[in-house]
Amino acid sequence: MSLDGKMMALRAMREQALIGGGQKRIDQQHAKGKYTARERIDLLLDEGSFQEIGMYVTQRGTSFSTGEQTYYGDGVVTGYGTIDGRLVYVFSQDFTVFGGSLGEAHAEKIVRLQDMALKNGAPIIGLNDSGGARIQEGVISLGGYADIFLRNTIASGVIPQISAIMGPCAGGAVYSPALTDFTLMVKDTSYMFVTGPDVVRAVTHEDVSFETLGGAMVHNNTSGVAHFAAGSEEEAVNMLRTLLSFLPQNNAEDPPRRATSDSPLRADEELDDIVPDNPNKAYDMNDVIKRIVDDGDFFQVQEHFAGNLLIGFARMYGRVVGIVAQQPMVLAGVLDINASVKGARFVRFCDCFNIPILTLEDVPGFLPGVGQEHGGVIRHGAKLLFAYCEATVPKITIITRKSYGGAYCVMNSKHIRGDLNLAWPTAEIAVMGPEGAVNIIFREEIAMSSDPESTRQRLIEEYRERFANPYVAASRGYVDDIIEPRFTRARVISALEMLQNKRDTLPPKKHGNIPL
Ligand code: HXC
Repeated sequence: MSLDGKMMALRAMREQALIGGGQKRIDQQHAKGKYTARERIDLLLDEGSFQEIGMYVTQRGTSFSTGEQTYYGDGVVTGYGTIDGRLVYVFSQDFTVFGGSLGEAHAEKIVRLQDMALKNGAPIIGLNDSGGARIQEGVISLGGYADIFLRNTIASGVIPQISAIMGPCAGGAVYSPALTDFTLMVKDTSYMFVTGPDVVRAVTHEDVSFETLGGAMVHNNTSGVAHFAAGSEEEAVNMLRTLLSFLPQNNAEDPPRRATSDSPLRADEELDDIVPDNPNKAYDMNDVIKRIVDDGDFFQVQEHFAGNLLIGFARMYGRVVGIVAQQPMVLAGVLDINASVKGARFVRFCDCFNIPILTLEDVPGFLPGVGQEHGGVIRHGAKLLFAYCEATVPKITIITRKSYGGAYCVMNSKHIRGDLNLAWPTAEIAVMGPEGAVNIIFREEIAMSSDPESTRQRLIEEYRERFANPYVAASRGYVDDIIEPRFTRARVISALEMLQNKRDTLPPKKHGNIPL
């Protein structure tokens, strides 16, 4: 063949590869309101930066129906490119080829990418849209999944791994996203479940749809499996890009610092009045966060799950921080099972990737109740405690109001290696709130009194004066300073600067045994 002929043949192959399963299936994909695998990559990455790897890989299985036609790529597009100029590896499952199902060659392409991402220290993003294990390839396909799971686990804590679910993700296939750091789901077009509605109906007689069993909002609201819900694929890629802007490339780097025009010394007088006089009244911790971070920009993680605890990323004078904060507007900011698990995983993520943790604390304690106790609030609460204890990144705490009981210890107290613990004058730091304390320690005195109610109120007031403040803790050095709220931003930024070269370690060990 002439050189020209060879070029033509290559171009023809390339054309063929680019249309995946063919125009008809591409049209079907578009008709469902979904982009194709390659369109998604183009949306996600910096323009023209994508370099494909393995474009001409074809399926191996020839049994049953897959051998009749060869499709280049085997249902997944893999390669690398940049987001805001920073290297990322991407795989994007192509639903137009065997429903994006995972066969041997498909799995090998993902595995190769995982190995490259780990070796070269860059994040990996998976865009999932797949019918699951390729039925025709049987156990080979299951082996492919297990190869991927192993690499997800080995890469955990070394490079950021992010999953976007943009179509079906069912059966054991869900475990790769579950092993990654963050899972994003697109509303209405994506779903995740271990067993689908038909099997559920047969086994438990529950009648559910794909959406109610494993749609985007179910996993964002109820199960906590997903961290982000996007209203469209465009919004999804924007969220992925924003998320990456807060993350380092790998665990040996610090997150990127970004210049800001927001003054590090900016004082915010509104903060002085944000905590209501009445300790039982709520205020919005989101408002506090937005007033202290750069440009009011707080990127929430798991916004729809366990709203009593807020987690997310922000910058302070350009430095990335992970924020963990009680939200008094939801369940009075109490710690329960879901909030503990949500916080623990986030603290551990930040610790893996050198992201300082800023804790804003207003916690009345752990949620009482049979449901919580029987659900294991002891071991789940211990996760958050464990995560804070083992974290060696800079850890700063601001106690805005309540800090009661075990929750005082858990929320990055000085005793568990908080680097700088500050309190507002509105802080109440004690074993328990005044009402509970008085009812226990003055039970007899109240009962014997001629006017029990007024005695109770007097004792509550006395207790509040004596204990429900930050000064007892400050006198013991358990808080480092009591600050005027308006200066919180300046104090945190100064602390981050002071802690920028912090080095702290744990004794050598294989790994700890976090109470799972
Ligand atoms: C091979 C598959 C496939 C699969 C879909 N296709 N899933 N081919 N293996 N698992 C093919 C279809 O034959 C069809 O081919 C094309 O993909 C599109 O599928 P449709 O059914 O037409 O699409 P749609 O109506 O949108 O339905 C999507 C779907 C459905 C809900 C995902 O295809 C489905 O239920 N698939 C099976 C899902 C499943 O049970 N997978 C195994 C899960 S167990 P043509 O040629 O017509 O375009 C599992 C275990 C993993 O994954 C364990 C890991 C440890």
